[in-house]
Amino acid sequence: MNGDTTNQASRITNHAVAVIGGTGMNQWPGLAIERRVALDTPYGAPSAALLEGTVYGVRAIFLARHGEGHKIPPHGINYRANLWALHQAGVKSVIAIAAVGGIAPWFLPGEIAVPSDLIDYTYGREHTYSDGSPSSELHHVEFSEPYAPRLRQRLIDAAKAAATPLAGEGVLAVTQGPRLESVAEIRRLAKDGCDMVGMTGMPEAALARELGLDYACLAVSVNWAAGVQGIGDIHAEIAQSIENGMAKVRAVLARALPTL
Ligand code: HPA
Repeated sequence: MNGDTTNQASRITNHAVAVIGGTGMNQWPGLAIERRVALDTPYGAPSAALLEGTVYGVRAIFLARHGEGHKIPPHGINYRANLWALHQAGVKSVIAIAAVGGIAPWFLPGEIAVPSDLIDYTYGREHTYSDGSPSSELHHVEFSEPYAPRLRQRLIDAAKAAATPLAGEGVLAVTQGPRLESVAEIRRLAKDGCDMVGMTGMPEAALARELGLDYACLAVSVNWAAGVQGIGDIHAEIAQSIENGMAKVRAVLARALPTL
């Protein structure tokens, strides 16, 4: 890695695009890092320094959602600081990479999808900037489409252009974690209309909306959710499929980023 660490947001030129990487993408090997920006925010520190650089000929920022050593659990992530820092850095579009369990029969491990909607089952997370503090204002942001349609379409088009077919679109269930779900819980999520399940999609998407950022998700199925294909060794499944799925993510990003 090259470049110095700085804590000055003002030194970042206006970057349009950020990628938040999660499990399986704690680093972005293609990104030529020029600067690490360790920001503080009114909500505390983000998960990691923002890594600023160039990838596929485009200026971009990468943020490791679970921290550099992948130690921060989904419910312990400071989502407010993460999104605030990206906003402060001049980011306009955020692509969130999320490892998920497949619920719908079409979402096989190793496949990718661009969720079209979500259901939030998390609790106890700092989930809004409208938190009643003296400096905050109350905003009821519109959330009928949690993901920015234009950015979603760019990801869908990029998958086509990269000849990396999407398994589908579908609804993401966001659970609290860090434990995986029971078979009955997954049955309930399926009844609710969920096609995949992950632990970090909220409040990330809602906070991005509150800040006016375009936000879309590229989901990677890394296992069958509990009970969908019987009861197996989920961790072994994840180990087997994650690299395959992440290679597809990189192929889609390579096509998507230059179009943003
Ligand atoms: N459930 C919730 N989150 C996940 C899963 C899962 O099965 N796999 C990867 N993230």
